[in-house]
Amino acid sequence: MTPPETASCPVHQNFDPLGDSYVADPYPIHSAVRDETPAFYAPSIDMWVVTRYDDIQKILMNPGAFSAQVGQRPVFPLSGDAQAIIKDGFRAYPVMSDCDPPRHTRIRRHNQKGFSARRISVLEPKVWAKATELVDAIEPGEVDLVSALTYPLPAYMIFTFIGFPDEDMDMLKSWCGNRIAFSWGRPSPDEQRDIANNMVNYWAYCEEFVAKRAANPVDDFTSDLIRIHQQDPDALSIADITNVAYGLSFAGHETTTSFTGNAIRQLLANPEQWKALCADRSLVPQAVEEMLRFDSSIPAWRRITTQAVNVDGVDIPAEAKVLLLLGAANRDPGHFAEPETFDIQREDARAHLAFGKGIHYCIGAPLARMEARIALDLLAQRAPHMKLIDGQDFDFPANISFRGPRSLRVRWPN
Ligand code: HEM
Repeated sequence: MTPPETASCPVHQNFDPLGDSYVADPYPIHSAVRDETPAFYAPSIDMWVVTRYDDIQKILMNPGAFSAQVGQRPVFPLSGDAQAIIKDGFRAYPVMSDCDPPRHTRIRRHNQKGFSARRISVLEPKVWAKATELVDAIEPGEVDLVSALTYPLPAYMIFTFIGFPDEDMDMLKSWCGNRIAFSWGRPSPDEQRDIANNMVNYWAYCEEFVAKRAANPVDDFTSDLIRIHQQDPDALSIADITNVAYGLSFAGHETTTSFTGNAIRQLLANPEQWKALCADRSLVPQAVEEMLRFDSSIPAWRRITTQAVNVDGVDIPAEAKVLLLLGAANRDPGHFAEPETFDIQREDARAHLAFGKGIHYCIGAPLARMEARIALDLLAQRAPHMKLIDGQDFDFPANISFRGPRSLRVRWPN
């Protein structure tokens, strides 16, 4: 869909979220486009891009005009091979993040119970225990905190929460591979085929796992959903539950790995803030909010219009794909004072849109916050003198929505 270039529809030929400079650091580009226009068309991705806090907030609160259905669709057409693999073995359908009411309302209502603050707080001792075990295993010297801590902690927690057995974790992790590239990046045909095969394996695993829980429910989140199904099969079907298990294991995993990686990097790159945090660990919850505002792991998310709309003077047609720059909203000077300053004591940081807003507000936010809080608290206690390894290049996967360093090398003190 290519719009005519008119006064009410600016076109930004150079905006490319898969370009090297954007992938390395999207924030200067966010700031430039946000200052220039509230919305524009980007031919590189065939999407309208919305840049400002108030507009993005209004869109998130208007699911009737802005459908979530496009959230997980591949940005670029898939190869014939990948399409055939998916068609044969991948039976997932939208249940939450890419689903609209009324199905979304029905499924979310039942899932919400499992993510209440009370249910999540029960997990807190387990997160502490796992984080402590991982940190205890770190040897003095150079260490990659992604592989040592920020990858295994959320993976272990979400898999345990869903109920996947410990012994399957390595296999599950190996299937997660480059999944982000499939729906949000531009993988080569070979990569598409590999990812599609992994998705089929993962899906088959989820079907088998949910069938096992249906036959023999235990004490985990999936079994809670099975009990709801057993009481009222119309409330949640077995297929709905399989989709939830598949979707959650992905949503609850790399989002938090990437966020904690960004957070630790920002803190260590701002040593006075890290020092303040280590001196007073009661600042950690507030600091987590500022890190979500300043450098979250989902700096952009998608919608598709169901009707022609006008965003702050810019006309957007019906069935237009829309990219919401959450990261640009979180640094909008119209909303946050001195938005480019990273300040862990910022009082209004929690007004960020890092978890979205409205009916799709991130269901895992309490778990993500808790994991990040515990990881930072533990690092501040155990390694207040750790430092980033100088001169390292941070490598970020090229895609339109997810951002986090693949590795984060630090000098771990004696
Ligand atoms: C720091 C980590 C995380 C960030 C930045 C994040 C961010 C987001 C964002 C931006 C959305 C989309 C909101 C929208 O479409 O309006 C979302 C939705 C969602 N997130 Fe998260 N998320 C994180 C962690 C998690 C975790 C740990 C889980 C699961 C345990 C999770 C599960 C979900 C689900 C299921 C949805 C869809 C909710 C719905 O559509 O009703 N997320 N998240």
